[in-house]
Amino acid sequence: MATLELRNVNKTYGAGLPDTLKNIELSIKEGEFLILVGPSGCGKSTLMNCIAGLETITGGAIMIGDQDVSGMSPKDRDIAMVFQSYALYPTMSVRENIEFGLKIRKMPQADIDAEVARVAKLLQIEHLLNRKPGQLSGGQQQRVAMGRALARRPKIYLFDEPLSNLDAKLRVEMRTEMKLMHQRLKTTTVYVTHDQIEAMTLGDKVAVMKDGIIQQFGTPKEIYNDPANLFVASFIGSPPMNFVPMRLKRQNGDLVAVLDSGQARCELALGMNDAGLEDRDVILGLRPEQIVLAAGEGNGSSSIRAEVQVTEPTGPDTLVFVQLNDTKVCCRLAPDVAPQVGETLTLQFDPAKVLLFDAKTGERLGAVASLPAQGHADNVTQFKGR
Ligand SMILES: Nc1ncnc2c1ncn2[C@@H]1O[C@H](COP(=O)(O)OP(=O)(O)O)[C@@H](O)[C@H]1O
Ligand SMILES: [Mg+2]
Repeated sequence: MATLELRNVNKTYGAGLPDTLKNIELSIKEGEFLILVGPSGCGKSTLMNCIAGLETITGGAIMIGDQDVSGMSPKDRDIAMVFQSYALYPTMSVRENIEFGLKIRKMPQADIDAEVARVAKLLQIEHLLNRKPGQLSGGQQQRVAMGRALARRPKIYLFDEPLSNLDAKLRVEMRTEMKLMHQRLKTTTVYVTHDQIEAMTLGDKVAVMKDGIIQQFGTPKEIYNDPANLFVASFIGSPPMNFVPMRLKRQNGDLVAVLDSGQARCELALGMNDAGLEDRDVILGLRPEQIVLAAGEGNGSSSIRAEVQVTEPTGPDTLVFVQLNDTKVCCRLAPDVAPQVGETLTLQFDPAKVLLFDAKTGERLGAVASLPAQGHADNVTQFKGR
């Protein structure tokens, strides 16, 4: 167990090529579980390979505990890694594959047997121990690859999308097992995924990456409720956050976000007065679960009326899509209140939860939530439907 710290890490795969990793700063406490998420090609596997020592960094330093391991060979770093594309020894049985790392560390055979039994049970591969990798499905091979890493007690575990080849049901089971295992072992872990639920549920911390740059690093709750920019807001959450383009106007001295296309009109009083924001294009962000059905006709000034276009019952809740100008807005409603297609709804939201982003730069403009409450909610934030 150890802390892991990345200090201003850079990586380029060759002279003249753009940097794949750009000034990566991350710090993980002993025993923490860090989730690394980001779109395909953003540099996640590169970062993992750099931490493991399989790639050399071209700038900065990687610290494990208080030791700079940047120049150290992989075997001296005491890290166990599960790769995105797992490589099992094809001529060895599953048991031999899992035992291999323990044997070269000269663990006594009785301990090896106990360790193999433990991980085989954990990963539900007890019945496969005598088979060769070629006789296994992709998902089974992936579990063996995990078994090989889990049979060791290294300082740090690195997992690169370890569940991506599993079918949906097994994936959910394994997710819970991963969490249980970490709660028990408390080994410092970096885990790459593109699965929303894994990102939100597994980690103590989440790092969201794009184009080799860490966009935000924080707890899952911070990333979800307080995204730093439009990219993070759109990447985390399923169904994704709704984004409604609006324009800032000044009305009676106050700034208001206005949507007015002729088809629909909304006005959102922002309760802020910053100079120079007039006529700025903004994006309003609102998560599907933050929209509720208003009772009856609702409170006209803090609600919006819109027609239902599509409904998607998922079981525990129903996704209801309404059209707001050119934007489809998704509302997550309880199945027992879910309306019919064609029905006109009065929808309401919690003004404190609305986020604003600069339409040009994608940066957060400051949440309405961070503004002082001004008496009744109607005075702070209102949607006016027409
Ligand atoms: N060995 C390599 N040589 C040159 N470029 C590479 C190499 N490995 C990865 N890259 C490039 O680095 C970028 C990041 O890749 P990768 O780290 O695999 O992303 P991710 O795991 O997030 O999908 C991609 O543009 C990829 O083409
Ligand atoms: Mg990858």
